[in-house]
Amino acid sequence: MTMTRKDKSTDKTPRHVAIIMDGNGRWAQMRGRTRLIGHHAGAKRVKEIVRACPELGVECLTIFAFSTENWKRTQSEVAGLMKLFKRYIRHETQSLCEQNVQVRFIGDRVRLEPALVDLMDNLELLTSTNTGINLTVALNYGGRDEVARATRRLAHDVAAGKLDPREVTDETLPKYLDTCLLPDPDLVIRTSGEARISNFLLWQSAYAEYEFIDTLWPDFTPEEFRKVLNRFGARDRRFGAVPA
Ligand code: FPP
Repeated sequence: MTMTRKDKSTDKTPRHVAIIMDGNGRWAQMRGRTRLIGHHAGAKRVKEIVRACPELGVECLTIFAFSTENWKRTQSEVAGLMKLFKRYIRHETQSLCEQNVQVRFIGDRVRLEPALVDLMDNLELLTSTNTGINLTVALNYGGRDEVARATRRLAHDVAAGKLDPREVTDETLPKYLDTCLLPDPDLVIRTSGEARISNFLLWQSAYAEYEFIDTLWPDFTPEEFRKVLNRFGARDRRFGAVPA
């Protein structure tokens, strides 16, 4: 399998790709296995997709691991996912460092267990000076919750006299978002055939291209990722303007 893309390093390559990794549960169900087995298979795919990014010319990858709505799942599934995140961080730290990946987490950490937050903080710190791809993991993340938290911080700055209300614009507000250090996503992919965005990167995706694909996340290979990126290269992005 050749991973090289002809159009690498041109504006045909999305700089920032965001993925809604859906379909782990159905993948497991089709095999008569528990949903958690599906999440473990999904985590395996995460590793492969992260590893494929440099060759494919993707600089930033953001993945939706757990939403603010996912707490509504059974207690055993939530606990299993939290355990999986801790395991993933512990097991992958060395490999992510070797791959020169810079990792960041977005979402509200307040509701997460302290042991997990410690691992997240530590991984961010350890990889903070890495210069390879940027991997952002959305964990207890919701777009509306992010905008609400950002607005709260912004309101504090206004109340403290640090920010003039007249300076609140579509350029200043994003500085308060969890993604303040990231470019907006160029492409958002959702696997498993569902065509909705489920509260993911609501502000940031204003001009993103979308790809809704039928493959279930645990079956999403780097080769299919390459094909999706090639389709993106064929699109005409206008950002609200008329064609040249
Ligand atoms: C959606 O599939 C998937 C999730 C809510 C969890 C995503 C987590 C992983 C891929 C595991 C590993 C992640 C990291 C960062 C190590 P679903 O359960 O909604 O599937 P279904 O719609 O078929 O039920």
